[in-house]
Amino acid sequence: MIKNSAFFISMNLKIQLGKLTLQNPVMVASGTFGYAREMAAVFDLSRLGAMIPKTVTITPREGNQTPRAVETTAGLLNAIGLDNDGIDRFLTEKLPDLKKYGSPIIVSVAVKSPEECDLFGEKLRKKASEIAAVELNVSCPNVSGGTDFGTDPMLCEEIVRRMRSVTEHFLMVKLTPNVTKIAEIAMAAARGGADAVSAINTCLGMSVDWRNREPRLANVVGGLSGPAIKPIALRCVHQIYQEFRKNGVNIPIVGIGGIASAEDLLEFLVVGASAVQIGTANFYNPTAALQIIERLPQILEENGIDDVNELTGTLKY
Ligand SMILES: Cc1cc2nc3c(=O)[nH]c(=O)nc-3n(C[C@H](O)[C@H](O)[C@H](O)COP(=O)(O)O)c2cc1C
Repeated sequence: MIKNSAFFISMNLKIQLGKLTLQNPVMVASGTFGYAREMAAVFDLSRLGAMIPKTVTITPREGNQTPRAVETTAGLLNAIGLDNDGIDRFLTEKLPDLKKYGSPIIVSVAVKSPEECDLFGEKLRKKASEIAAVELNVSCPNVSGGTDFGTDPMLCEEIVRRMRSVTEHFLMVKLTPNVTKIAEIAMAAARGGADAVSAINTCLGMSVDWRNREPRLANVVGGLSGPAIKPIALRCVHQIYQEFRKNGVNIPIVGIGGIASAEDLLEFLVVGASAVQIGTANFYNPTAALQIIERLPQILEENGIDDVNELTGTLKY
């Protein structure tokens, strides 16, 4: 039962992603919600389906030179470069803080080698009960080698299998759109033992100041996000869903890319997503995720739908 300011309606927003149960299908995407501290003052974070903090690596990373973010038409171009304090500080300093907000925490990790999976496995096991799931980021375009595991199906399968072997957590693999056939990579992740795939990370792009003949990002190229990439993300989720169906794979897909409203979310469900992540919208509208959660039961009721799960993969074409 959802309590709404105007009326009470019986509506199921709960979703089941394998063994992971979420109260609603709205998560906040890695790198776009900080470690939630600033956002906690803005709304009650326990309303979220889940939170995915910034990707963490085994050793701390300073990230790229500045400027590392620039606005573009209907989008944001960034080349942060996985700036983070490393897994040890994440587990001792950030995680206890994140847990206070009452929403499931999905830890986003990136690795440089199969051996790093083993290290992550060991470290995450010690905090197993505080972590709802793991998202393996094989898709960061802003670090050297950041997408290697996300662009080659064999490497992707191998790294997912390695991570699978060291963690019992629900394992979601985050894919890059910067490939010719994203569905092939998604299939590789499924073969490696992923419990879900999330798509998409940012699209490689560039912004140029022609007067000074200079790139606007110190890294020259970066990842484009925001409303500009929604059609690309929808296409990716659609292609993955169709490929999964064709091959009898039934792991869930989590849609990401330009989602800023409940309508956007529903589009992703129709093409095959079971849940979504909100990214760039958090920057220009910090309550975007909450607004979507509050609007969702209303819009479903207006359309005679009483369970959000009904919509997944209902595209007619
Ligand atoms: C500033 C910024 C930092 C990001 N950092 C990460 C990150 O650390 N790990 C990750 O998996 N994705 C990262 N992303 C990608 C987002 O999680 C998301 O996949 C992407 O932005 C597309 O969604 P959106 O259009 O809703 O932003 C970042 C995106 C932005 C804009």
